Amino acid sequence: MTRQMILASTLDELRSARLLLDGKLGFVPTMGYLHEGHLSLARRARTECDSVAASIFVNPTQFGPNEDLSKYPRDLDRDLHLLEEVGVDLVWTPTPEIMYPPGFQTWVEVQEMTRSLEGAMRPGHFRGVTTVVAKLFNAVQPQKAYFGQKDAQQAAVIRQMVRDLNFPIEIIVCPTVREPDGLAMSSRNVYLDPDQRKAATVLFRALSAAKAEYEKGERDAEKLRGKMKEVIAREPLAQMQYVSCADYDTLQELDKVTGKTLLSMAVFIGKTRLIDNFVLEAPPVTS
Ligand code: PAF
Repeated sequence: MTRQMILASTLDELRSARLLLDGKLGFVPTMGYLHEGHLSLARRARTECDSVAASIFVNPTQFGPNEDLSKYPRDLDRDLHLLEEVGVDLVWTPTPEIMYPPGFQTWVEVQEMTRSLEGAMRPGHFRGVTTVVAKLFNAVQPQKAYFGQKDAQQAAVIRQMVRDLNFPIEIIVCPTVREPDGLAMSSRNVYLDPDQRKAATVLFRALSAAKAEYEKGERDAEKLRGKMKEVIAREPLAQMQYVSCADYDTLQELDKVTGKTLLSMAVFIGKTRLIDNFVLEAPPVTS
């Protein structure tokens, strides 16, 4: 028998609905305007858990003052329909007043790991992410939570927060879902006009070029960063913000690639800021 998806908005509604969900609960936090990337997380949760909950909340505290909070795309009816099709049991759509009641002054902050990459470019971003995710975890009380590899640093920061604060939650990081031409799916892709949309494949092309060099034996991290920069520089509509070749666990920039490595970048296509990454698995040990 298929159960009807429950919609909760207030905390009381969420808590009453949570009591109805049996067994292991998988949770997919989102900011809505869902695409195949989000749905792949919900489908994975559906296969691994007894019940699945999702949240839709455009979290104001993770946007900087000059970022796209006010124009962030929203389509709640469509999102709910998509989540229902995947078989999600409960969707929570809290308001900003619920998440940040008047007088709010308690923040969750992961320190070292948020100083580089996205954290360096978007001051305060990860403080907003970890605070809202901690609050979502407290309210929803899942056993497993699902995040996309596309936001690689976010996933690493949340894993660190879960370890540091002893949340009894397993964090599952799922592969990036891509368009046929390689562009990583993102709610922000909707901002791109047709020419920018074509140019946006430059992130995938740059990452692929660096990975090809790695596969040919290149281990000098500066040369891999250089390869990515070279490809981005050839795309007239692209403006690089950073490229990185960093240790997968610590996110520290590398001189030499010896173990599991994260190639990542942020690139502006017009006014739209896109991020993407590839993971280079550790090379096999030869004796
Ligand atoms: O990845 C996102 O969509 C957001 O950062 C998250 C995890 C839902 C927190 O607002």
